[in-house]
Amino acid sequence: MKILVTGGLGFIGSHTVVALVQQGHEVVIIDNLSNSSLDVLDRIALIINKKPEFYQVDVRDQQQLRDFFQNHQDIEGCIHFAASKAVGESVEQPLHYYQNNISALINLLKELTEIERCGLIFSSSCTVYGQADELPITENAPVKKAESPYGNTKQIGEEIITDTTKVSDLQAISLRYFNPIGAHETAYIGELPKGTPQNLVPYITQTAIGIIEELSVFGDDYPTDDGTCIRDYIHVVDLAEAHVVAVERLINQKNKTQFEVFNVGTGKGNSVLEVVKAFETSTGVNLPYKIAPRRSGDVVAAYADTTKANQELGWTAKHSLEDALKSAWKWQKNLA
Ligand code: UFG
Repeated sequence: MKILVTGGLGFIGSHTVVALVQQGHEVVIIDNLSNSSLDVLDRIALIINKKPEFYQVDVRDQQQLRDFFQNHQDIEGCIHFAASKAVGESVEQPLHYYQNNISALINLLKELTEIERCGLIFSSSCTVYGQADELPITENAPVKKAESPYGNTKQIGEEIITDTTKVSDLQAISLRYFNPIGAHETAYIGELPKGTPQNLVPYITQTAIGIIEELSVFGDDYPTDDGTCIRDYIHVVDLAEAHVVAVERLINQKNKTQFEVFNVGTGKGNSVLEVVKAFETSTGVNLPYKIAPRRSGDVVAAYADTTKANQELGWTAKHSLEDALKSAWKWQKNLA
């Protein structure tokens, strides 16, 4: 079964390519290299002992995409990662985000709907829930008004897919990720943030290695036990596995409706200070930090109810927070 992975050289994409190949799938990657490098292809090859098929294609370019599909008519499923993902940047450059994340999705859907019963896995985010009224968050929690253009592209993306499945035989699954962290155990692939990292774990590892002086913990006066925000940190290797089982579900026609939505998290919430402590105990490295003001747009707490993914996909997160932090640290040390 040939599976197309857009953005397959990115953080989650590269781990998913590895997981797909290790499950015996044939993979073809397209990526425009705007936020990734060809070097990742060689690094993937070190893990799976062969170079996956790769084309430099920009999903925003309909003609390029059409030419690609004309030469690859054997694709049965597509996992669509190619998108921009920085919340702050999306506020600064909304049109760039709508073009990258929405125009590109529309282009892709135009091609996928030409293929009989094609399966699409869409990268969505827990950001669609905003501050949920109830924790843990189930898939039935209402989608709240997005706090950023980035979040909005995930909501609109899901709506566009819903409407498309109503008028075509496209089969789709949206995976709403909680907080993906960590790296492959080999430390050949991992997260490569551009400039100063915005997300907690790359910020922690860059602080631990001395690139950044100290971590700022954004707010310690939230209504949580230790006053810091709570998130559901999921190891990227577990997240990659979820994509494999989701695309297999579509290809094997096991999906119950044409468009399904699953939360992908561990089901456990950890505060920022718990993550700091877990990093220190699992790596033995001291982490300098200070308490800083709250960051605007942060929700107090978000963690997944994973019952639906456990029962329907037969998937469950296997790695602990400590495993994920250790792998992120190994990756950081390997980069230095
Ligand atoms: N944090 C710090 N210091 C830092 C960075 C983060 O204290 O230097 C805190 C944040 O305030 C937050 C937690 O660590 O409480 C996690 O922050 P991240 O930036 O790592 O992740 P977010 O939960 O903000 O981001 C997630 C997803 C995004 C999504 C966003 C929506 O990764 O894709 O939720 O809120 F858009």
